[in-house]
Amino acid sequence: MIEAVHAFGDEEGAARRLAEALNAPFHLIQTHVFPDGESLPTVAAGAGTVAIYRSLDRPDAKLMPLLLAADALRRRGVGRLILVAPYLAYLRQDMVFEPGQPLSRDVLGRLLGERFDAVVTVEPHLHRTSDLTPVFAGAPVVALSATAPLAAALAPAPPGALVVGPDGESQAWAQALAKLLSAEVFTFTKTRHGDRLVDLTLTDAAQVEGRPVVLVDDICSTGGTLVAALNALRSMGARSIDLAVAHALFDTDTEARLRAAGARRILSTDSCPHPTNAAPLATLLAQALRNL
Ligand code: R5P
Repeated sequence: MIEAVHAFGDEEGAARRLAEALNAPFHLIQTHVFPDGESLPTVAAGAGTVAIYRSLDRPDAKLMPLLLAADALRRRGVGRLILVAPYLAYLRQDMVFEPGQPLSRDVLGRLLGERFDAVVTVEPHLHRTSDLTPVFAGAPVVALSATAPLAAALAPAPPGALVVGPDGESQAWAQALAKLLSAEVFTFTKTRHGDRLVDLTLTDAAQVEGRPVVLVDDICSTGGTLVAALNALRSMGARSIDLAVAHALFDTDTEARLRAAGARRILSTDSCPHPTNAAPLATLLAQALRNL
């Protein structure tokens, strides 16, 4: 049983929703920032099993205060500390792509796995990793799918709707979402040339013309991938294009670029706070925490 949910002020909304879904008290972590930028969190007293909610968008700013708060909670008497990180950063660097680079996934995994007894996350970027538990120093990692909350926010899908994934890596969860919406599915093949430049080619001769499309991706950051997909789908004659993303890691201009490229509705889960959040994760996360 989760005794309480602790969170920092910048994620109070989503963390309070989780506490309500668990019927557990919510405690705000107070943070003092020293003039040189160092942070000093202060946590409420705790005991038993406690969850700390910290989604890891903007990871470099968020990680150090999280580690300090974890230490403070242990000193306060918490026995079992569970990290609820709906978005887990650094998983895209799941191999050394170029000589001289780090294996960021493993650095993050060790850092968190040695301090938390379990981690609950949503739609982690697991392209070459089937199980994160060994990466997280043996701490169990529960990876949840965002398809059910996104499907609930999208439903009902219009008749003839087509679910489209922008790359082969999105295929499995585009298929899962399509199943929940009783829609057909197809995926592009993506070649990335840089942070903001991608090419998409068609792998599937799906009939797009005149059909309503739901374009889905796990992460949207610069929007480069989804803008390329929007452009291709418009040129193929899609009637309307709605977007559903698990993690809205949007740059300041991403939403405007997606709208300019023809996106009608843009929906995201509340894993990263953004005005497009329309699919709350609290019920899903609470269920996973109860089953731990
Ligand atoms: C890549 O493998 C991911 O699934 C996303 O397609 C990617 O992270 C999106 O990034 P951006 O919005 O910058 O194209």
